[in-house]
This record gives sequence, C-alpha cells and structure tokens, in this order.
Amino acid sequence: MTIHIGAAPGDIAETVLMPGDPYRARWAADTFLDAPRLVNEVRGMLGFTGTWRGNPVTIHGSGMGMPSLSIYANELIRDYGAKTLIRIGSCGGMQESVGIRDVILAMTSSSLSTPSRGIFRELNFAPSADWGLLKAAHDAAVAKGTTVHVGGIYSSDVFYDERPDLNEQMTRHGILGVEMEAAELYTLAARHGRRALAVLTVSDHLITGEALPSEDREKSFGDMVEIALEAAFT
Ligand code: HPA
Repeated sequence: MTIHIGAAPGDIAETVLMPGDPYRARWAADTFLDAPRLVNEVRGMLGFTGTWRGNPVTIHGSGMGMPSLSIYANELIRDYGAKTLIRIGSCGGMQESVGIRDVILAMTSSSLSTPSRGIFRELNFAPSADWGLLKAAHDAAVAKGTTVHVGGIYSSDVFYDERPDLNEQMTRHGILGVEMEAAELYTLAARHGRRALAVLTVSDHLITGEALPSEDREKSFGDMVEIALEAAFT
C-alpha cells in the first residue's frame, strides 16, 4: 500500500496501461483482460489487474494532467516495480494532416513545464518514448489498418488555453497533437530506467474544430488498448 494506491504488494503487474479516466480503466479491464480484479480505488482512482494472452497486466487511471499522473506513475514504478508504462488517452489534433480518430504515437513531448522541471533547472530535457514499444505499437497499428502518425506532441498544463499563440508555434514546428500527461510519464520512465509510450487517439481538432462523436469514442479507445497490449508483449 502507498499513499495513493491501496493495492497489496504483488497486486500490480510489471506492465501497466494508464488511461486518464478511471472508468475507462474499468471498461478496458472488463473488455480486454481475463479475470480482472479491482486492486485500487483510493480517491476513486481505479486500478485493475488481470491477464492478457496469459500475461499479467494492470490498467490503472492516471487522472488528468501531469501532477496527477506523476503521483500514480511514481508509486507504480518505485513501490510496485512497474517496468512498462503505456499511456492510452486522447489528444487534440494540431496538424491538417492528422484526422479525428487517427492514432498518434508520441516519439517525444514538448512542454512549458513538467512536475520534474525543478530538478532540471536551466536544462531543457527532451523526454522520449521507448523505441521498442514505439516500433511494436506502430507495427500493431498498421496491422489493424489504423491511420497512425509518429512524431512530437505537446504536453500542456491547461485544457482551457489562454495562449493560442503557443499552439500556433507548436503547429508551426510540426507537433502532431496536444494532451496533458506524456512528457512527465516519459521523464519518470527515463529517471527510473523503465519503458514508456503514449498511444493517443485524436478526439478533437484545434485547427478544424471537429470532435469525435461520442458513439465512436468506445471503439477508438478499444483500438488503442489493443495497440498498447500488442506493443507491450511483442
Ligand atoms: N487539449 C489538451 N488536452 C487534450 C485535448 C486538448 O485539446 N484534447 C484531448 N486532450
């Protein structure tokens, strides 16, 4: 047990999928895992452990934003020994070439700041995905016929953004999409020698204003879970 995770030692698998939404964690565990069991519900942040094709897997919510993700990822890594952490979430598209429903695999993530900012001081650390996971996820996405993009994303601290000029600069520099968690996940994985990846579905678009219809969200989320599981065990 840790401050924010009530799981017993050994209740968390070495492979952890992290959706932002705890109810998505429940849906993914019920839909894709064999014999899923609830291992955490502290503060309503649900975590489930089961197996996928015989491999132990935990699906645990991260909450929204890097401070929340940082709490859970730190405890999962340092106290429970998580070795592979894959964020599965949504993002806003930032390029014309990126469409709603497309999947983005984040090779790296830019940010104004992360919870790790303080330790780097004047250094701009470049958080990056694990190459093996990234390659395996790309292969899995292509095999499923999913439209997939690989490149840089932007981990923002705000959803309701008062600085549209920053988004314009990100778009100008080829950033594919915006979300709120990946940069800190990659930084923590680097610090502790773990593997991390963010698999993201484009749920809304900053340039076109389009949004994923609610009836399509479950299917898109399911595709991401499958891509993440395939990548983890390739
Ligand atoms: N901004 C930040 N995070 C997001 C967005 C967005 O537009 N869409 C999905 N996650």
